[in-house]
Formats: sequence, C-alpha cells, structure tokens
Amino acid sequence: MALGLEPLENDVIPAVAPKRRGTLLIVDDEDGPRQSLRVIFKDDYDLLMADDGPAAIELAQKNEIDVAVLDIRMAGMSGIEVLERLKYVNPNIEAVMMTAFETTDTIRQALRLRACDYINKPFDIATIRGAVNQAMQRRRLEGEIHSSAEKVQELLTELQAQRVEEQIAKTRGDIYASIIHDINGPLTVISGFVQVLNQRLNLSSRMELEDLEFIKDRLRIVARQVGNCIEISRRYLSFLRRQSDENAPKISINQMLRDLEQLVRVHPALLENEFVAAPLGEEIGVKINGTDLIQVLLNLAVNAFQCAPLPHRVEISGEVLRAPLDLAKFKDGLNDRLLNVENMNNTAPLVKLWVRDNGPGIPPEVLPKIFHPYFTTKGPRQGTGLGLNIVQRLIKEANGALHVHTQQGEGTTFTIYLPATAPTK
Ligand SMILES: Nc1ncnc2c1ncn2[C@@H]1O[C@H](COP(=O)(O)OP(=O)(O)OP(=O)(O)O)[C@@H](O)[C@H]1O
Ligand SMILES: [Mg+2]
Repeated sequence: MALGLEPLENDVIPAVAPKRRGTLLIVDDEDGPRQSLRVIFKDDYDLLMADDGPAAIELAQKNEIDVAVLDIRMAGMSGIEVLERLKYVNPNIEAVMMTAFETTDTIRQALRLRACDYINKPFDIATIRGAVNQAMQRRRLEGEIHSSAEKVQELLTELQAQRVEEQIAKTRGDIYASIIHDINGPLTVISGFVQVLNQRLNLSSRMELEDLEFIKDRLRIVARQVGNCIEISRRYLSFLRRQSDENAPKISINQMLRDLEQLVRVHPALLENEFVAAPLGEEIGVKINGTDLIQVLLNLAVNAFQCAPLPHRVEISGEVLRAPLDLAKFKDGLNDRLLNVENMNNTAPLVKLWVRDNGPGIPPEVLPKIFHPYFTTKGPRQGTGLGLNIVQRLIKEANGALHVHTQQGEGTTFTIYLPATAPTK
C-alpha cells in the first residue's frame, strides 16, 4: 500500500515547503495509471498517492488536500464511496473521477457528490492536465472567496464594535446629564432638611432632649439622601464602565414605599397637592436596586405633581400579581403605551406598582414622545425632559415593563411591572 507524500525523483523535499503549490491526491488501485499520473503532475503539485480507499481517507485526515483524482472502479471501496468519505473529511476537496466503462448512473452519482469533472480511461495527458488544473483553480478561487468572506466578516465585527464605542461616547453626555438630574432630587431634600435644622437651632437657646431627637431624626434622613447621591453616581459610573449590576439586591416594597413617602412629603413639587402612598397588602420583595426603584417612582410622582397648576391628587400604590401578564391585552394606541415587553421577565409572581394622578392627561400627539431624552413640555428652566427616559432605562435594566394609560381630562397612570422575590427583612 503506497501511502505518504511522494518524494520528487532525486530531489530532496525542502524542510518547509513554500506556501503552497497545491496538493494532489491520486487514488488508483492499479500501479500503471498511478505512475503515469505521478509523472504528469510531479513538477506541478505536491503529490500524495494511495492505492485504495482507506489509505486515501487516512491521507486526507492528515494532509490538506486540494484535488483528488479518483478511479471509480477499485477493489474494496469504490471511487464513489471514497469520494463521499473524502468530502466528509474535507468538503472543500475537489475531485476528478476516472471512469472506464461506467454507466451514466455512476457518473451522475459522482456529480451529485460534487465531483467537479470526470475523464475516461485510458486518458490522454492534455485532458487529465486540463481537468486537474481546472479543479486546482476552482479550489484556489473557493479558498480566496472563503478568506475574503472571513475578512469581510472581521471588518463587519470591527465596525460594529466601533459603532458601540461611538454610541457610548455619544451617550456619555446624556449620562452626565442624567446624574445631575437624579442627584438633584436628594440634594433638594438635603437642602430642605438642613434649612429646617438651622431654623430649629436658631430658635432654641438651649438644647432640650426633644430638640436633640428632632435633629437626630432629620440627620438620619440627610444621611440616607447623601447615601442615595453616592448610589446614583455609582450606578451611572458603572454604566460608563459597562458593568451590569447583576447582583442587584432585593428590596422590600413596603419599606421602599415608606422611604419614598418621607421623600415626597418634603419635596418642593408637592405644593398643595394631595398625596397618598398605600402599602401593599402583603410583604414582598422585588429584585432591583433600591435607589433605582425610588428614583423611578419619585420621577413619576414629581411629574404627576407638576402636570397641573391647580391642586390635584397623586396616588402611589400596588399589588401582587399571581399570574404572568396577558400581553395581548395591551395595545399601544392614542391613550396607551407599553414599554420593554420584549425583554421583560414575565414570570409570576409579579409586583405591579402604579403612580396615578387626576390631572389633565397627556395629549395623543405628545404621548409617543414622552420617553425621548430631552423631550419636555415644561418651560426651559423647569424641565430637562430626562425623567421618563431614565425611568424606562431603569425598568429595562431590571427586566420589568412599564405601561402608561392616560385619558384627557381624567388623568394619567404609569404602571410598572417587576418580577417579585421573597420578602426581605
Ligand atoms: N403625569 C403626567 N401628566 C401629564 N403629562 C406628563 C405626565 N408625566 C409626564 N408627562 C409629560 O411627559 C413629558 C416628559 O416627562 P419627563 O419626566 O421625561 O421630563 P420633564 O418632567 O418634562 O422634565 P424633568 O423630568 O427633567 O423635570 C413632560 O414634559 C410632560 O409633558
Ligand atoms: Mg419629569
């Protein structure tokens, strides 16, 4: 059994073959044709010789073969079978079949297995040369197309990465604006409390126990708000560094609602409006950063207070849903919008929280724009238009969904849906 790379007559194979003049596998169980093919092609290609199917397949497993010349009629494994197996080892191998008295059926079979040519035995030199050279050329072209396609893919991937970088650079400004927007809330509260503390200190010439308790209590709130500022900057900085906060702590909804109520009670946007924050009927948690959820509800509540100049009512409340949302029921329309349905984790139980006002509602021509960054209907010194954009981003990060329903003259309800977790202590 002839197996292996055939040395060129009297020639020493160079230690590292120059890349690459094409490797031709010749498979024939008769020595005569094998030797004539060797003589014909030894100067043009690196040759591998096999005298039966298994030897040919072993060579294909160990070498990168470009073209195989296969005799169809061989003892043991037929040329057709060898072709099939060679294509299995390396689908890129081109094959030229040699036939003696084959039926058109066999030839058709070879072509179906993607042999690229067939020649009759006995062959003349010009014909076999023509067939093998053409197969080599085809193989080379296919290789080039393949590597071009790979290069195009590489370029596309690079371009994609660059686009993401550009997008991040572009949103950097928005992120800084968001930090300022979000920190403004706690800072307002801190400033309010510091004023109250100052007044109290100025009024009393001597510290009573009651004064001390008052000061301690307000300082605790100030400290919590300072903590919130730090959390907000941390959240955005980690976003800039493209880290996701995967270990977002679970928070208790009712605890969060109590904190929120304290914040809203001292918020300058409250004015003369009526405000109700009703706890949920049961203790339950949600998997979202606490500062994020307070931020979401505070932004929604402040919008609700600011939606009308006359005193009106704003309510924050919620409930636990024991079944997933029936998404078919939500239809975007003149009065409704549902965000982040595609990415929400719609697994029961869910926590549903809403912020409802009985203000003027949102006009249908305004509704599609309210989540756009910098969209505001407020005066230039009153609104940045970032509030709702931040809200929808935070809800998306928490795999929740956000629904807004509005009715002109009746009011607006923003509802968020978040996956629930076990209650936290
Ligand atoms: N409850 C609501 N009732 C009526 N309109 C609302 C309500 N909430 C939001 N909107 C409309 O959506 C717009 C965008 O709100 P968003 O919170 O993004 O920005 P903003 O409140 O205008 O500014 P900022 O939040 O920076 O103070 C508002 O200007 C307002 O027109
Ligand atoms: Mg707002």
